[in-house]
Amino acid sequence: MAMAAVIITPPLPAALLLLPLLLSLSSSSVASASDTITPNSSLSHGQTLVSAGGVFELGFFSPATPSATFLGIWYKGISPTTVVWVANRDAPINGTAAILSIIDSTTNGGGLVLADRSSGHVFWNVTGAGATSAQLLDSGNLVLLGAGDVITWQSFDHPSDTLLPGMKLGWDLSTGLDRRLATWRGPTDPSRGDYTFGMELRGVPEGFIWRHAAPVYRNGPWNGLQFSGEPEMRPNNTDFRFEFVANATDVYYTFLLDADADDVTSRFVLNGSSIQRYVWAPGGGGGWTLYWSLPRDQCDQYAQCGAYGVCDAGGGSAVCACVVGFSPAAPRDWALRDGSGGCVRRTRLACAGDGFAPLRGVKLPDTTNATVDAGISVEQCRTRCLANCSCVAYAASNIKGGDSGCIIWSSALIDIRRFSNGGQDLYVRLAASDLPNPGTFQTQRFNSFDSSVPLTPVQERNMEDESTQSKDLNVMLFDISTIVLSTNNFATSAKLGEDNTRSSQLNWSKRFDIILGIARGLLYLHQDSRYKVIHRDLKAGNILLDKDMNPKISDFGVARIFGDDTNSHTRKVVGT
Ligand SMILES: *[C@@H]1O[C@H](CO)[C@@H](O)[C@H](O)[C@H]1NC(C)=O
Ligand SMILES: *[C@@H]1O[C@H](CO)[C@@H](O)[C@H](O)[C@H]1NC(C)=O
Ligand SMILES: *[C@@H]1O[C@H](CO)[C@@H](O)[C@H](O)[C@H]1NC(C)=O
Ligand SMILES: *[C@@H]1O[C@H](CO)[C@@H](O)[C@H](O)[C@H]1NC(C)=O
Ligand SMILES: *[C@@H]1O[C@H](CO)[C@@H](O)[C@H](O)[C@H]1NC(C)=O
Ligand SMILES: *[C@@H]1O[C@H](CO)[C@@H](O)[C@H](O)[C@H]1NC(C)=O
Ligand SMILES: *[C@@H]1O[C@H](CO)[C@@H](O)[C@H](O)[C@H]1NC(C)=O
Ligand SMILES: *[C@@H]1O[C@H](CO)[C@@H](O)[C@H](O)[C@H]1NC(C)=O
Ligand SMILES: *[C@@H]1O[C@H](CO)[C@@H](O)[C@H](O)[C@H]1NC(C)=O
Repeated sequence: MAMAAVIITPPLPAALLLLPLLLSLSSSSVASASDTITPNSSLSHGQTLVSAGGVFELGFFSPATPSATFLGIWYKGISPTTVVWVANRDAPINGTAAILSIIDSTTNGGGLVLADRSSGHVFWNVTGAGATSAQLLDSGNLVLLGAGDVITWQSFDHPSDTLLPGMKLGWDLSTGLDRRLATWRGPTDPSRGDYTFGMELRGVPEGFIWRHAAPVYRNGPWNGLQFSGEPEMRPNNTDFRFEFVANATDVYYTFLLDADADDVTSRFVLNGSSIQRYVWAPGGGGGWTLYWSLPRDQCDQYAQCGAYGVCDAGGGSAVCACVVGFSPAAPRDWALRDGSGGCVRRTRLACAGDGFAPLRGVKLPDTTNATVDAGISVEQCRTRCLANCSCVAYAASNIKGGDSGCIIWSSALIDIRRFSNGGQDLYVRLAASDLPNPGTFQTQRFNSFDSSVPLTPVQERNMEDESTQSKDLNVMLFDISTIVLSTNNFATSAKLGEDNTRSSQLNWSKRFDIILGIARGLLYLHQDSRYKVIHRDLKAGNILLDKDMNPKISDFGVARIFGDDTNSHTRKVVGT
């Protein structure tokens, strides 16, 4: 790019209609490269502004054909040209007669105008920003300065597809300004594309990528350290620092380069449906390095597993599971690996007597309809949720230095994913009868993809010959009222296998006795009992201890009688 020169012109006439007159007056004198436009100087095709430290350059560029020219800002020292901001992205200039000038405050309150010198046609303008000069800063920000060098307008408030260090993504609530990134339509077409990235204000603020108005990706609410959906975000990386502000006047995300990383160049760009961070490393071989990019996998696709579904990319090809206590809403679609129909609750909430199943290491569900109270503890949050029959889940709103604060959901839980590292705890309200044993996995994957038994989702654990078995085995059946009575309405205090107080009594000889007892029980079931029984779900959670610490094997929900028919075989994976 040729060194910039700025042509000094007389002040612009008040009415843009008079622009053609400038043509004959414009080349009165030439100044050297500058970072500033004044009412006496303007910028025309072939000229550029260069920021004081030579970091950024502003000028005209034609990404595809010379007949589509744009005014933009790019890195001065980086090749190939990397454009970070475009003024007239939706109004390309045809030809070379466009000129960027300051308009004084007598016209539309003053500002900046990009117009055709001969026809006076306006491609882009800033109005109501009474300014005496425009200056390109080393941050990449083009600012209009009014009396006393107060910034009256800045390009940072009107991003294109790129967020530079110090730029804010989100809202200035006092003015209603919503700063969003919007994609280029194509690699050589800066006109506004289909995707935007910004902050949703409703409920608890979160970042969203939208395609038109439809959510494509959601990064989750800020948890004091990072966005809930981006646990890999390190608050104090050695090179970047992230900040999120949500108060009465501002809701925005920004990133800054550390003071001692001033040789690092980094940009954050919305590129098609993904957000990407690029880094230009000092002393590197040149070229942008893709440092980080989202979405990562199909679990980042918004609502991949529908309401009450949990997406787990580490789960093989079937990524969707239901929150414990829920079953697929459309089992057939689910079996065909379309989880978008989500899951439905098995047992209606009773309101009183409900409890919570913890989902650990997840991205919190969509908070568009949620409420937050940062001022209470997580325990108080639980109490508040239990006390309100419309509350379906709660979580800590802040995990910095321990969990605190409260987010409460009252509508369906949408867009939950599990992380193998990081993630947060979500407590989902369930009817007492659906509560899992402590220590069991909190989602249930439906193993319906066994080709020998296609398309029959296994929704209940006691799925095989349940009726015949229970008749044969003299199993005692209790009706619900008896159970309610004997458990004091499922009171927490009556819960089995929970309180830790007696674990201190478990010395080695006692443990040995328990292990021996379990082995004896199994031997009985397999060999000595009238019916040979295989338990199929033997795990710590299914061993109960009586008051004398004698072990009892429990939960025969998936057990089978091993009868004469020694050829019978199980075609499904069950239990443990
Ligand atoms: C603009 O030009 C006029 C006269 O040519 C001069 O008086 C004035 O100081 C100039 N203004 C600036 C901002 O350079
Ligand atoms: C652009 O300008 C050229 C030459 O002046 C003209 O032939 C062409 O039709 C113009 N295109 C548009 C889209 O205005
Ligand atoms: C100039 O700015 C005003 C106010 O923002 C706007 O209404 C008008 O459409 C703009 N003109 C052009 C040609 O962009
Ligand atoms: C990150 O560093 C800044 C400044 O060094 C400090 O104020 C801030 O509390 C740190 N943030 C975290 C989450 O540790
Ligand atoms: C909100 O936070 C921003 C950035 O820290 C600060 O400038 C602003 O004054 C705050 N507003 C209120 C109402 O606290
Ligand atoms: C968008 O991503 C593609 C690769 O996925 C990359 O080649 C291109 O440079 C990116 N665009 C920007 C503006 O960074
Ligand atoms: C929020 O509530 C509205 C209105 O009830 C509903 O249409 C929308 O689906 C809800 N969104 C989420 C994410 O729960
Ligand atoms: C219960 O929660 C709903 C939804 O958040 C809320 O509108 C309602 O005011 C709450 N009721 C009470 C008594 O707090
Ligand atoms: C182990 O604990 C039991 C009570 O739980 C006690 O009777 C026994 O003496 C203890 N044995 C040893 C070796 O401490």
